[in-house]
Amino acid sequence: MLYRLLFRRVLTHVDPETAHHLAGRLIRLAGAVPPLRAAVTASFGRMPDGVTHRVFGRDLPGRLGLAAGFDKDATMALGLRAVGFAFVELGTVTAHAQPGNPRPRLSRVLPERAFVNRMGFNNHGAAAAARRLARLRRTAAGKRLVVGANIGKSKVTAPERAVADYVTSARAVAPHVDYLVVNVSSPNTPGLRDLQATESLRPILAAVREQAAYAAGRDVPVLVKIAPDLADGDVEAVARLAVELGLAGVVATNTTIAHEHGPGGLSGAPLLPRALEVVRRVRDVLGPDPVVIGVGGIGRAADAQAMLDAGATLVQAYTAFVYEGPTWPGNLNRTLR
Ligand code: FNR
Repeated sequence: MLYRLLFRRVLTHVDPETAHHLAGRLIRLAGAVPPLRAAVTASFGRMPDGVTHRVFGRDLPGRLGLAAGFDKDATMALGLRAVGFAFVELGTVTAHAQPGNPRPRLSRVLPERAFVNRMGFNNHGAAAAARRLARLRRTAAGKRLVVGANIGKSKVTAPERAVADYVTSARAVAPHVDYLVVNVSSPNTPGLRDLQATESLRPILAAVREQAAYAAGRDVPVLVKIAPDLADGDVEAVARLAVELGLAGVVATNTTIAHEHGPGGLSGAPLLPRALEVVRRVRDVLGPDPVVIGVGGIGRAADAQAMLDAGATLVQAYTAFVYEGPTWPGNLNRTLR
């Protein structure tokens, strides 16, 4: 209630990226100071004891996690857990640090409870993320977290050299994470989504899987994140490739370019129907065992439940967290169980 008022009266008058940085500071603070973290967890993020979901060889306290793009540089994981996300996918990180596209590059579409972003993978690079993750994992609270890393292609890297670029990121972060996501579906790096074609994707996924395991000294679950704009046949082709390569699963979906608000990817409520359809198709091809992370337009518990009913193992959200505020993830996670 309070947050909705704050959002409507104050935050909507602030540039959305500036508001994001402000929120980021608060979340980092909530994670960094143990007594504050305990208080935030008690108010927002507490999960009932005894119910966990076994995924990636870890016990998750709930099924809702934070989608990639919010914590691009791995600085907020503890605070995000404290507000009630059961797991956090950081990134996208790229092999080279890069500034992303010029601002403004994030806009609200208020009536649709949506965003359009053309961030372009602004991040400090995979090596910096790896250093932060290593530090996080040395702490008891950091070890308890379930953390994934989403990796993308650096803008300066030509598509022909994509394999090496993804491998560099994979090797850097794999030792510190519970799962890796190969992102070939952001609309904001020119040519990136062409890598979803199976002949381009096969060598990337195979190399990432092998090199991640080598760098970490254990099998690291690797998933591939796809766009909602793929034709149904292409969704199924990627899912078949995931089966062929023995991947851990698929994340569906990224933002869509099918909208009329200018360049960039649309996230939030309008995405839900197509994301559900993609999850259903992916699950059909994968069979019962691989992990499907359903993401796209989840706002209410019923939306998350629809994702699970469509075949998702876990769900993620980004946009609704911003619209609904810090009480939202914990409430949804508690309702879902
Ligand atoms: C994203 N998303 C995203 N995805 C990804 O794989 N890597 C990224 O770096 C980003 N960055 C990003 C920035 C912003 C501002 C938004 C709004 C979204 C996509 C995100 O992870 C998710 O797939 C979609 O936003 C759909 O989920 P929601 O937002 O509808 O819950």
